[in-house]
Amino acid sequence: MRPGNPLRGTSSVPGDKSLSHRAVLMGAMADGVSHVRGWLAAGDTEATLASVQALGVFVERHDEHTLTVHGGTMRQPTAPLNFVNAGTGIRLAAGVLAGQPFPSVLDGSEQLRRRPMRRIIEPLRLMGADIEAVNDRAPLTIRPSKLRGVRYELPMASAQVKSAILLAGLYAEGVTEIVEPGPARDHTERMLVSMGADIQTEGNVIRVTANGQLRPMDMTVPGDISSAAFLIVAACLVPDSDITLTNVNLNPTRTGILDVLQAMGARLEIHETGLEAGEPVGTIRAQTSALRGVEVGGDVVVRMIDEFPVFMVAALHAEGETLVRDAKELRVKETDRIAVMAGELRKMGAVVEEREDGFRVVGPQRLHSAEVQGHDDHRIAMSMTVAGLVAQGETIVHEIRCAGDSFPGFPQTMMQLGANVAEGGAS
Ligand code: S3P
Repeated sequence: MRPGNPLRGTSSVPGDKSLSHRAVLMGAMADGVSHVRGWLAAGDTEATLASVQALGVFVERHDEHTLTVHGGTMRQPTAPLNFVNAGTGIRLAAGVLAGQPFPSVLDGSEQLRRRPMRRIIEPLRLMGADIEAVNDRAPLTIRPSKLRGVRYELPMASAQVKSAILLAGLYAEGVTEIVEPGPARDHTERMLVSMGADIQTEGNVIRVTANGQLRPMDMTVPGDISSAAFLIVAACLVPDSDITLTNVNLNPTRTGILDVLQAMGARLEIHETGLEAGEPVGTIRAQTSALRGVEVGGDVVVRMIDEFPVFMVAALHAEGETLVRDAKELRVKETDRIAVMAGELRKMGAVVEEREDGFRVVGPQRLHSAEVQGHDDHRIAMSMTVAGLVAQGETIVHEIRCAGDSFPGFPQTMMQLGANVAEGGAS
């Protein structure tokens, strides 16, 4: 990519990844036929869909984004389930499969095998689950067992861990109670409410009790704010830009990036237009903005956890100091996103101070072109593309293809909005 062209126009973004994983997994658990439109057809969610199909669940695919899930009957898979790079897929599925009367093996790519699984193994074992894992890493071998409800205080704010426990709770005897240290995304809770589950949230405590069958759902998945964030930050940074993104999920547990960008002086206009799948959706207009540095810590961190790679790019272009703390979870994502982003941005001349639980930068910094790597981490590859749009000269991002794990067509969307991006070559 090269700098110079403004981003202008209206676009939508692909369906929400978190909701798309949940739609197929929870559709498989439901008693009946669920209809899902706007489903995200991307690397991560396709892996979850394939695993659900390997569990004997019949899924009709009307087109890439329109599915009918015939839920209610899962059976023993004939081979290990392969979640490829999908942390959400494997962790949520572990909760579901802990409650099934057949054994299963859950596995994935080398990258997924490096990610911590103790965070789900421990609470599921407390519930009585029989899970075997060498060094608390995938592959996970799950054998049938009788589950019971527990009260569990989450050691970290994590929607994946919370969801694994809630889904297992639907197969457990008694009440399952979770105490959250912070407001992690609540898509599982919202979906369970719409499916008629016995679930209540009171402050930071969530209770679920198995009450028989789950109703199937009929939903349209709204656009993913985590995908929108790359376009929003690009529009804020590239001169003369003015873009509008329609039908974006505005669930307040996901909109931390909008709050923080606005606190930095970003010119954003956000209009809620309605509800989709029990989630507020709306339109976001983003224009070129003069950003100021900001301090980020506490509860907002989990509300923007996937946006820190692109936020680092924004912070480098803001006037003054930006300090991020309480974000050590970034080190156990697809990659160590603090170290990897700092390392790639340094190739472009950036000065980034890494901290154990965040980072500090002082801006504005003028970046120069470089050849950078995507590290098989979609959000790294897309963030470096945004960095390249405001760097001097021509930047090459290798492995941009991994953007397709969450945002298929990312380079094309950038091009449609007018960015000077070309895709090509072997990597
Ligand atoms: C997700 C939860 C978050 C997030 C991930 C999606 C989910 O992970 O980073 O991209 O859909 O539940 P953690 O729960 O590990 O923080």
